[in-house]
Amino acid sequence: MSKNYTFPAGFWWGSAASGPQTEGRYDGDGKGDSLWDYWFEQEPEKFFGGVGPERTSRVYKMYKEDARLMKETGHNSFRTSIQWSRLIPDATGEVNPEAVKFYNDYFDELIANGVEPFVGLFHFDMPMALQNEGGWLNRKTVDAYARYAKIAFELFGDKVKRWFTYNEPIVPVEGGYLYDFHYPNHKNMKEAMRVMYHEIVAQALAIKEFHEGGFDGTIGVVLNLTPSYPRDPENPEDVKAAKLADALFNRSFLDPSILGTLPEELKWLWADSGTTPDMLEGDAELIANNTIDLLGINYYQPRRIKAKETPVEGDGKGGPMPEDYFDNYDWPEKKMNPYRGWEIYEKGIYDCLINVKENYGNIDCYISENGMGVEGEERYIDANGEIQDDYRIEFVRDHLKWVHQAIAEGSNCHGYHMWTCMDCWSWTNAYKNRYGFIAVDLDNDGARTVKKSGKWFHQVVADNGFEA
Ligand code: BG6
Repeated sequence: MSKNYTFPAGFWWGSAASGPQTEGRYDGDGKGDSLWDYWFEQEPEKFFGGVGPERTSRVYKMYKEDARLMKETGHNSFRTSIQWSRLIPDATGEVNPEAVKFYNDYFDELIANGVEPFVGLFHFDMPMALQNEGGWLNRKTVDAYARYAKIAFELFGDKVKRWFTYNEPIVPVEGGYLYDFHYPNHKNMKEAMRVMYHEIVAQALAIKEFHEGGFDGTIGVVLNLTPSYPRDPENPEDVKAAKLADALFNRSFLDPSILGTLPEELKWLWADSGTTPDMLEGDAELIANNTIDLLGINYYQPRRIKAKETPVEGDGKGGPMPEDYFDNYDWPEKKMNPYRGWEIYEKGIYDCLINVKENYGNIDCYISENGMGVEGEERYIDANGEIQDDYRIEFVRDHLKWVHQAIAEGSNCHGYHMWTCMDCWSWTNAYKNRYGFIAVDLDNDGARTVKKSGKWFHQVVADNGFEA
């Protein structure tokens, strides 16, 4: 028997992307380098197919067509991010007038097509001018970020009403300072915790600017939540290990962002590993008084944890690493997305929403990313040139069923954004896996073709739900 999944009136339907993954670079655009531009210049071989951030989906030139296609696929909202290194090329100095014009035109075009712009301020893209001085390791970046945020609110606050301080602030911690998948490729837990702490303080300062400046709208953060499941929920050691992983990877930003406090388990971990970051007088009060209005949840995969069993490899120099405290658990029954190597576990999206409902005051939230990257989608092109991505439809639908369930149980979830609209550049994976509702042909000036999932999404939005 099929069931009707209808969503609340005014539900935010759309998708998400980011400036660095979509805009591209063009002569005369005045953009400064971010760490991605620099890293690609230094080590192009680390990027899939040798494709770097200058060769993205060309949104800088194609935003008008894209806004129209968003409308065509049913979007009523869309998140992207401003590139700090575009708006303020040296990060701390003058504003780039070309950037102001571009973002104004882009946001206007979205609005004209009935698509509300949700705008982030930072999506892994530290300006190189600051990275050269340590990036998030340097307390100077905290103040520079708050200044940049204020400038963005002043410039675009008339049209942007939903702001986000960061996308996935844990990723620069993990990628840049623990697990070597982003520049500057360090493996140093003490540095990682300093980066984390500086991001937390900088966010509080930006929120303060927003609220004190009297800007209209809301400010939030987008976090990638990875529910931490213990191997055996009856085994206290597994449960303890999972709680530590949760404190480090989820609550590290959830708690200060929503509750204005740092989790006790995180402080214990810092103390035990000797990685407590330097804190300034007044920081705790700043964090306590400047919390978010809206939470974006990116959900892709859970984290499965077991008590420590194997010796730690550490950072090779004997320094502490998170894995001193827990082991990742390989659940034999897991369902995988083989292209990205991520587990698909639909119920996790519900667990995230219920956690927010029960432990975070049921703050207003929405699913800000969820999606499936697939390699070689040209295999699925039909005679009409349309990619038949039934796997993506199934993925989105099966997650939406759990979102629906959480809402039925009282979650304040206001929307669902897929990652992503147009196929876009995926960091070091470049264009290996495609995520979009709309295909992008890089060899043909970035020509766009709506996939089957894009048409399906249009219908879901028109019906404000689906039957399944
Ligand atoms: C999210 C990020 O973590 O996942 C995006 O916000 C990213 O920037 C997306 O592109 C998919 O991950 P990936 O690594 O396959 O691009």
